[in-house]
Amino acid sequence: PVIPVILSGGAGTRLWPVSREGHPKPFIRLADGESLLHKTYRRAAAIATQDEIVTVTNRDHYFLSKDEFLAAGLGEQRPHFLLEPCGRNTAPAIAAAALALRERYGDAAIMVVMAADHLIRDEAEFAEAARAAAKLASEGHIVTFGIRPDKPETGFGYIECGSAVGSGKDGAARVQRFVEKPDAATAAQYLTSGRYLWNSGMFCFSVGVILAELERHAPDVLATARTCIDVSPSEEGVGGLRRELDAASFSNAPDISIDYAVMERSDRVVVIPAAFDWSDIGSWSALQQLVAPDADGNRALGEALFVDCANTFVQSENRLIAAVGLKDLILIDTPDAVLAVHPDHVQDVRKIVQQLKTAG
Ligand code: GDD
Ligand code: MG
Repeated sequence: PVIPVILSGGAGTRLWPVSREGHPKPFIRLADGESLLHKTYRRAAAIATQDEIVTVTNRDHYFLSKDEFLAAGLGEQRPHFLLEPCGRNTAPAIAAAALALRERYGDAAIMVVMAADHLIRDEAEFAEAARAAAKLASEGHIVTFGIRPDKPETGFGYIECGSAVGSGKDGAARVQRFVEKPDAATAAQYLTSGRYLWNSGMFCFSVGVILAELERHAPDVLATARTCIDVSPSEEGVGGLRRELDAASFSNAPDISIDYAVMERSDRVVVIPAAFDWSDIGSWSALQQLVAPDADGNRALGEALFVDCANTFVQSENRLIAAVGLKDLILIDTPDAVLAVHPDHVQDVRKIVQQLKTAG
């Protein structure tokens, strides 16, 4: 079977004040009223061959996530939750999911790992790529989905493409080199070389292959996940499966992403260049792109009035925002906090969250 595994974690601090610890990024509602997690569930349902979709998330987000599952119209499917006591990054989350799936389906099951905070509009094209990936994964490859870069972004992984692999129809290539989050100079060099793609952060592999690669490149991650799975019983109810990862053992897992733990080190990695659109909703500038601008480049989500403004984005839940004579500003209004940020500084919104944390 092909099993979608949705990773829903991470704080999304760059999207404060809408994204909060108790209401993080995957649950933020977009302009069309749907959350990113809702859209991810729909994408997952289109590729699942077993009626099972696995969500790995914090135990505090179980009910919120289930609501999104139902909102996406997946009442017919069985949600399977692997609940974390704390976030230990993506390698432990994937290791635990692979071990849980091995118990149910064995080593040959194919996992399609999807992030809960990506936006892909072309769902049919994505499903096509996932089918091609599943075929390569069943032949022993670890498949990544590559995105053509258009700026020297340092927050992504970079993939150097090598020789063709498989039928060649989908453009799949061996990965010559995988570099997670290079520095600015290196990213600029990769961009101009034209030989690199961004790693989209979605992966496809068989249970057996990812466990073998974790054993080889990150044995400590696998060992902790194994101890944890062994002592974490699975509960099966009418609403699907629920497995709460044991806090004492899982909190010992090394905090490392799958990119550093496996993708940079494995020689089984291949890439399928994405024919679908993709965006990582990481900051307010990515979110504002989802709203159509007026003739002066102003955008509003909620009620707003602009006089002599340019390139201004305002968002409010239930108040009118009136802006006069503003240029290059992002203004986010929520009941208990307002954010005003220059578009060039959206990455630094996380520093506000850090300050709030240290202030207690
Ligand atoms: N369950 C769970 N637990 N999910 C997690 C955890 C965790 O501890 N940490 C992160 N996630 C989820 C996030 O919610 C997101 O959906 C996905 O895993 C990726 O984590 P990020 O923290 O967003 O990773 P990143 O953006 O820094 O980098 C990854 O994605 C980039 C593209 O968006 C890498 O794969 C990069 O190589 C890639 O370019
Ligand atoms: Mg991300």
